[in-house]
Amino acid sequence: MTNTFFNEDIDRRGTSSLKWDKYKEQDILPMWVADMDFQSPPEVVAALYDRVSHGVFGYTTPPESLEQIVVERLNNLYDWPIEQEWLDWLPGLVCALNISVRTCAKEGEFAAVPCPVYYPFLTAPGLGNRQMMQIFWNKTNNGSWELDWDWLEQNINKDTKIFMLCNPQNPNGRVLTREELERLEQFCKKHQLVVCSDEVHCDLILDRDSCHIPYATISDYARDNSITLMSPSKTFNLAGLGCAYAVIPNPELRKRFRRTRKGIVPDPDNMIFGFAAAEAAYRNGEPWRQSLLEHLRSNHEYLMEQINNIPGLTMTPHQATYLAWIECKLPEIKNAQLFFEEHGVGLSAGAPFGDPNYVRLNFGCTRKQLEEAVRRMKTAVSKLT
Ligand SMILES: Cc1ncc(COP(=O)(O)O)c(C=O)c1O
Repeated sequence: MTNTFFNEDIDRRGTSSLKWDKYKEQDILPMWVADMDFQSPPEVVAALYDRVSHGVFGYTTPPESLEQIVVERLNNLYDWPIEQEWLDWLPGLVCALNISVRTCAKEGEFAAVPCPVYYPFLTAPGLGNRQMMQIFWNKTNNGSWELDWDWLEQNINKDTKIFMLCNPQNPNGRVLTREELERLEQFCKKHQLVVCSDEVHCDLILDRDSCHIPYATISDYARDNSITLMSPSKTFNLAGLGCAYAVIPNPELRKRFRRTRKGIVPDPDNMIFGFAAAEAAYRNGEPWRQSLLEHLRSNHEYLMEQINNIPGLTMTPHQATYLAWIECKLPEIKNAQLFFEEHGVGLSAGAPFGDPNYVRLNFGCTRKQLEEAVRRMKTAVSKLT
């Protein structure tokens, strides 16, 4: 796979794309929701053609061969020897966040949620009549982010039952170190918390000095008290195909998770195309993923330099993901998302993630589009003075 692959202009207009249809017939570059503007690996496209040509699309089961490759992959990439029966397939991960909260906390009890975070983490407790114990990510003086451990210790209460971790973190791009994960495990053990660890961005590590460590591998306690959420959808750009999984080693917790989802979240019997795509991606998509990472690293580097040269905007280095979390400190701007949208760049607003002083920019796009977005943002800010 060459650089040209990820720099090819692919017209997504008129394809019912959530990302592109938002600005249909408007000159606004969509840089918001988390899907990328690239074609999936050719092997995935071929596997889908192959499945389509069979012509019969009845109910399905998760293919044995797919489960085996997931088991092998987690062992090879993340040193995590899982068993096949720990897997539970889902049409997406947002529902899994909600199922996890409802499985582990009763009505009125608390879920601890570090913030800012991908907004379905923040809505999950309330949607299930559970309460949210908000914790904070603080920006340090050296421009990184760390969890406010003191606040966590001081505010934990006996009704808190689950810790909702997002690692790699969306939106600040942090990849937790082993030290941080061990500290979290100690804390959770002391307070008897289950961790729901959303690791959907784990294959997208940009920083060469960081590596992804699944929380469940930290200790026996972590393994037996965790629900890990993963999926090929971010890595291989398959979000519209609906194929994700939870890894739940503890049989009792797995049983409760399955009971909570039963009859509400579809059984994985309608995921024919998701399964076909996932298997092809995991089996044959590694060279594509490596090339993707190069493209994203280059976009990230370019964006860091450009954004930090725009007065009032700051971006700290992201260790992972293709989503940049940008602070906007310009007194003239009341709503940064609206401001940049009016100047032709469609970003995600920071408020739903928990911080209105930020916007989130998706750099999973061609360099040409990223350069044009930066140009528009610069021009917009320069007009303020
Ligand atoms: C951390 C995280 N979890 C879950 C999702 C959504 O997953 P799904 O589309 O499988 O529901 C996203 C999408 O951006 C995400 O960033």
